[in-house]
Amino acid sequence: VSKSAVLSSLDLSWISKIQVNQPAVLRRAEQIQARRTVKKEWQTQAAWLLKAVTFIDLTTLSGDDTPSSVQRLCYKARYPIREDLLKALNMHDKGITTAAVCVYPARVGDAVKALKAAACNIPVASVATGFPAGQTHLKTRLEEIRLAVEDGATEIDVVINRTLVLTGQWEALYDEIRQFRKACGEAHLKTILATGELGSLTNVYKASMIAMMAGSDFIKTSTGKETINATFPVAIVMLRAIRDFFWKTGNKIGFKPAGGIRSAKNSLAWLSLIKEELGDEWLKPELFRIGASTLLSDIERQIYHQVTGRYAAYHDLPVS
Ligand SMILES: *[C@@H]1O[C@H](CO)[C@@H](O)[C@H](O)[C@H]1NC(C)=O
Ligand SMILES: *[C@@H]1O[C@H](CO)[C@@H](O)[C@H](O)[C@H]1NC(C)=O
Repeated sequence: VSKSAVLSSLDLSWISKIQVNQPAVLRRAEQIQARRTVKKEWQTQAAWLLKAVTFIDLTTLSGDDTPSSVQRLCYKARYPIREDLLKALNMHDKGITTAAVCVYPARVGDAVKALKAAACNIPVASVATGFPAGQTHLKTRLEEIRLAVEDGATEIDVVINRTLVLTGQWEALYDEIRQFRKACGEAHLKTILATGELGSLTNVYKASMIAMMAGSDFIKTSTGKETINATFPVAIVMLRAIRDFFWKTGNKIGFKPAGGIRSAKNSLAWLSLIKEELGDEWLKPELFRIGASTLLSDIERQIYHQVTGRYAAYHDLPVS
């Protein structure tokens, strides 16, 4: 169920006195990243990798996306891991798919069609609002949301006006996101903060809080097009905002890191971070997503290695 029914009103006192302790956040991020990954039993590790697959918003956001490349993406989302590997792990009848596919607005129709043909109900997410820069008129940004929803997207990943954050115009930011929320209707709203362009961790916290007050179902780190992507310090700040918002309102808001997450090992570090900061109840696709395009291939290669003891040759695991 979308959060639109339960959204909070704007309460600036929730952000006015906030000052993020940057050295403490950086220490915590280092601590998590320095931790040696425990050498788990390979079955356990494979099980975690499969869990990571179910969190992926399998994404293609390229100028040369076509109906057929989107169709291949959808097939990969439906069958993310080779059947024989799943059988070896006794996971072949668990219906493992990625959490969603994520495309540009003009490709939503292709994705909906491809998934329908495969009798598969994986949600289609669309970026919108002038992604990635957001530098288009508000009127067209809103229309873009409505058209993507009309074409069948059930999740909309919007970008915000970064200037509003950099100049501390929190009410204006709230109003903008409320309009996005309204344009989404029943579709879920995922608000991309583009944290690499927000100037400070304190701004990241404040923008997170405003986005949640305005009715976002998820807050998302990055577009994947900024030079600074999903980093652990930023994630820690966003996760603590999510926790604070939960304590204040009882509403659980989702988190989506995106941009630069490519290795299987890295994806497991993200799962640990969520587990430690928010607990197991956030480790489900309703509350956690990883936005990624190439991560899935690396996870499949790792699983291949763990199941067969060999490294996959290129032709063993064709990429989509
Ligand atoms: C973003 O906000 C700034 C500050 O209010 C404004 O000048 C600018 O036009 C806005 N950008 C867009 C794309 O509306
Ligand atoms: C951010 O992510 C994009 C897309 O995955 C990638 O092209 C870029 O190199 C990444 N930048 C950093 C600093 O990791």
